[in-house]
Amino acid sequence: MKHTDIVDILNQPEEYLGKTAVVCGWVRTSRDSSAVAFLELSDGTCFRRLQAVIDKQAIAVDPECTKNGASVRVEGQIVKAFKGDGVEINAASVSLLGKCPPEYPIQKKRTTLEFLRSIPHLRLRTNTFNAVFRVRSVAAQAIHRYFHDNHYVYVNTPIITASDCEGAGEMFRVTTQGYDAKYASEEEYYKNDFFGQKAGLSVSGQLEGEVAAMAFSKIYTFGPSFRAENSNTTRHLAEFWHIEPEVAFAELPDIMEIAEDMIKYVIRAVLEECPDEMTFFDSFMEKGLKDKLWHVVNSKFGVVDYTDAIEILKKADVKFQYPVDWGCDIQTEHERYLTEVVFRKPVFVINYPKAIKSFYMKQNADGKTVAATDLLVPGIGEIIGCSEREADLDKLLQAMQDRKMDISSYRQYLDLRTFGSVPHSGFGLGFERFVMYVTGMENIRDVTLFPRSVGNIM
Ligand code: 4AD
Ligand code: MG
Repeated sequence: MKHTDIVDILNQPEEYLGKTAVVCGWVRTSRDSSAVAFLELSDGTCFRRLQAVIDKQAIAVDPECTKNGASVRVEGQIVKAFKGDGVEINAASVSLLGKCPPEYPIQKKRTTLEFLRSIPHLRLRTNTFNAVFRVRSVAAQAIHRYFHDNHYVYVNTPIITASDCEGAGEMFRVTTQGYDAKYASEEEYYKNDFFGQKAGLSVSGQLEGEVAAMAFSKIYTFGPSFRAENSNTTRHLAEFWHIEPEVAFAELPDIMEIAEDMIKYVIRAVLEECPDEMTFFDSFMEKGLKDKLWHVVNSKFGVVDYTDAIEILKKADVKFQYPVDWGCDIQTEHERYLTEVVFRKPVFVINYPKAIKSFYMKQNADGKTVAATDLLVPGIGEIIGCSEREADLDKLLQAMQDRKMDISSYRQYLDLRTFGSVPHSGFGLGFERFVMYVTGMENIRDVTLFPRSVGNIM
């Protein structure tokens, strides 16, 4: 169907003024009288809509064309809008592509996000989701551009894997056979399975990313990760998109600088490339959002040592649900207190106790902590998990033995420490959490096309 994208007409009106154009789209709202009808058309190519003006005395129009949700093709002249300084289309002909009966669940009055979650296949046609998913797309493009421009190689790590990177036992099993009591042991059972051993969906591309970084120096992955976490919260998904750069010859302060630089680059790109969407979020989702984000772009992130963070939390005049003491994991409530009340901006918490972090993190000289950091942001908590990696074979082996890990399934990973080992670091950014942060959306299910979480696979 030959037609023009509405975004082209609205962005370069001078190119189209006085000319005839064909547009296709869905009727978002309409006003209809016996003499004229006004249709607000959206084709989803931008946040704004194009108004079609129909002189009902001059042309015959199927009444179905003016119904909310109907899809139509309009041909006509692009003219200066009667109101405001934009343009509209003076319809010479309107044809119906698909009618939309009155039971269409997306109605004019603002429906709740909760209700819209029950119709994931239709909710994308609302303003909110139109804006969310364009911002998500622009952010993804900016992430690729950032890494590409800085000499990173984009690698695609496997989704099916035999090794559990985070070692937290949160892997979904991949199998072609049901359990059968005839097998004497778990091992014998998996021997008969598709891969001849236990396999699962990857929780992180990091281990394979490290392999690639030992050849290309700078790599990143951008793909799905899976977590069988039984966490029914507004920031956890069973399937999320994960950006994981891995950088050779980089220590913890170097990778933190990269993380901060990348976050700022992508926020700026979204602010500049999505002005209409960001104004919408600023008005309807989080007042002051744009100012907040510009402030983030233009100021330094905070940095606090884990040990100091614990002291701050202990002195806090707040009743936390989880008690705080040196050695404890920092819970979401603590993360949010640190970043929302104490620092009021993104903050890196560095040097966590080694016992609560993963085996691959570089052990600090104090023997108690690792060179790891989480980046916390207001409203969400952790959006990045980051560390320098242990490059010393003996220390790495010791950390794995302490955790009773099956060393035989990490042979390739360990080889990296035998053949030309170098200091290196990396991080993982949860893409959905980042999109929540820049849009002000409060539930991770509302920044994901079809969210998967405990008990939910609609
Ligand atoms: O902190 P995590 O578990 O770190 C890793 O996986 C490392 N291997 C990353 C690396 O160093 N390459 O996860 C990284 C980030 C978290 O900070 C969070 O933003 C996101 O991934 N994330 C989730 N997002 C949504 N739902 C979940 N269930 C998530 N689990 C982690
Ligand atoms: Mg983490």
